[in-house]
Amino acid sequence: MINTDDNYKFSSPDDFFSDADRQYMTLALTLAKRGMGWTSPNPMVGAVIVKDGEVIGQGYHHRCGMLHAEREALADAKANGNEPLLNGATMFVTLEPCCHTGRTPPCTEAVIESGIRRVVVASEDVDERVAGNGIQTLRNAGIRVDVGLFDEDNRRLNSIFYFYKQYKRPYIVLKAAMTLDGKIAASTMDSSWISNEQSRSIVHDLRGRLKAIAVGKNTVIHDKPRLNCRSDNPALQNKPVDKIIFAEQSDVPTDSFAPDGGRIFFADRSITSSPDDFISFCMQHEIDSVLVEGGSGVYTWFLQNGLADRIILFYRPSFMGADGLNVVGGLGVTKIHQLMNFNIHSVKQLGDNIMIDLSRIGTEALCLLD
Ligand SMILES: NC(=O)c1ccc[n+]([C@@H]2O[C@H](COP(=O)([O-])OP(=O)(O)OC[C@H]3O[C@@H](n4cnc5c(N)ncnc54)[C@H](OP(=O)(O)O)[C@@H]3O)[C@@H](O)[C@H]2O)c1
Repeated sequence: MINTDDNYKFSSPDDFFSDADRQYMTLALTLAKRGMGWTSPNPMVGAVIVKDGEVIGQGYHHRCGMLHAEREALADAKANGNEPLLNGATMFVTLEPCCHTGRTPPCTEAVIESGIRRVVVASEDVDERVAGNGIQTLRNAGIRVDVGLFDEDNRRLNSIFYFYKQYKRPYIVLKAAMTLDGKIAASTMDSSWISNEQSRSIVHDLRGRLKAIAVGKNTVIHDKPRLNCRSDNPALQNKPVDKIIFAEQSDVPTDSFAPDGGRIFFADRSITSSPDDFISFCMQHEIDSVLVEGGSGVYTWFLQNGLADRIILFYRPSFMGADGLNVVGGLGVTKIHQLMNFNIHSVKQLGDNIMIDLSRIGTEALCLLD
């Protein structure tokens, strides 16, 4: 399960910072986590303002386009009648404050105007428009800025954001439910349900965590999927999920899709003519992560094109036999040395299912399910 629990503990940093600093940054990270699933393509960010050992304002970035955490915390302080206490206060913020006008105005301006005298930052921003300039802007205004408290925890929490910024492509996760002999549907195309409820609940958490789902034409036609997030986790419920359908728009009905506010895209053959075209399409629409949900034709395309960063397989202890549909079609393997290998990230029993979580060799398995 994704942990959005407020009691989630973050690991300890180096000795530069005081216990009180750690306590407030832990609170800021906990607040940041409340935005999980909702802030993409922005990171999750939390902020806490402290004066004389008291928290006088706190906030987090709820959703892309909404107030940044720093402005939320300042607004919270004002709403609580704490505006006069801002002068000389300290702000703990999990990401370097922005210094540019994007969807919202620069946070550095608001921090400087508030009279805050010290800012503690977990991580520098990797966005080229900020990347150290936010910190410098604050320092130029005479504010003390200390950087690096719980940097690793923040990067782990925002691992998709950092991956997307660093590699300039979405993080792609394939998930499939199958029998032990690798069959994802019967010869009639029936596949409901191969996996158990526990496994399916993890899939809904993944839909909550990631930006988009990709499915093929036949899956939409035969399964009539809703393609929304029905996570047990209240923080992820109703989160809009973008849908990327591998088909021409005219070829598939979309009336089964739940109207969750997610965008619907049709990835026709021009978009999937090469992996680069698909990546460009995702970048153009700020899709930082994709959950590939099948079927076989679509899994095959992602594997053939080297686009699987992570593969999460749910096995049912049964055999379908040769009549069933293979999870992956022909990959042109004629010799063992041609096999595509993956790292085993984890193996877990989920009641009568087994989950095998694989990651691409040479790429760190990002924090998804913890
Ligand atoms: N157990 C599971 O986890 C699971 C998950 C999902 C689906 N399923 C099952 O899988 C079955 C469907 O699998 P499927 O392989 O028949 O179909 P699919 O992967 O859902 O769709 C494949 C079709 O998508 C179209 N397409 C468009 N662009 C494509 C591209 N770049 N690469 C590949 N296909 C592209 C093609 O149709 P055109 O050639 O007509 O253009 C292709 O035949 C269903 O029975 C469903 O229930 C099982």
